[in-house]
Amino acid sequence: MAPPSSEEPAAAAAAEPAGAGAISKVLVVIAMQTEALPLVTRFQLVEAAADESIFPKGAPWTRYHGDYKGLHSVGTVSAALVTYACIQLLKPDLIINAGTAGGFKARGAGIGDVFLASDVAFHDRRIPIPVFDSYGVGARKTFATPNIVKELNLKVGKLSTGDSLDMSPHDETAILSNEATVKDMEGAAVAYVADLFSTPAIFVKAVTDIVDGEKPTAEEFLQNLISVTMALDQAVMQVVDFISGKCISDL
Ligand code: ADE
Repeated sequence: MAPPSSEEPAAAAAAEPAGAGAISKVLVVIAMQTEALPLVTRFQLVEAAADESIFPKGAPWTRYHGDYKGLHSVGTVSAALVTYACIQLLKPDLIINAGTAGGFKARGAGIGDVFLASDVAFHDRRIPIPVFDSYGVGARKTFATPNIVKELNLKVGKLSTGDSLDMSPHDETAILSNEATVKDMEGAAVAYVADLFSTPAIFVKAVTDIVDGEKPTAEEFLQNLISVTMALDQAVMQVVDFISGKCISDL
């Protein structure tokens, strides 16, 4: 979910040379500071000093960096801009977009579940003209990571991205047509930029609220944010541990 600017970080990582072909630079794009801080703590990342900033003056993003098992780590509509800036400047081998998401119980999502997105698409870019319509939806497959899925036993589902936490009737129709199990506010934008620059990207999304449930979304989101962020933190750590020392083709 995209936050107000004071909540807008970019958690970052860079790395030492690793074995031949091994992934050495991982960029973790995270929208909210609340979502990012457990990972910043766990990976002992430090905030980049003003004179180390890689972002243009005025950009409301924060870069955290550090070295974890030879991997360095980053984090957020920012999502597209920060992904662009970080790809240009850090040249990551892999992007992990980590964050919270709304889940559809009709498709098997429950609070606290962590999903790896198999596909991403937008649900609020409506251009009812042939060809332009599918550009608007921007559906794409994510970088396949069968070994991560198998090893970490993560749920897999399609992710639909839009600029709102709530869901209008239009959004609902588009999300159904995207066959999404989870809904967020960054994924498809990060995927678009990652694809432009041929950088593999994976999407780790933890469910804070059930979109097709009884509770109001904002209330449920806030109620579960802290606990679900812990589950997200745990999952991202396991993903990073799995990646450590491996090549992209091993994922
Ligand atoms: N992040 C967490 N819950 C969300 C929702 N319901 N929609 C979009 N982004 C979210």
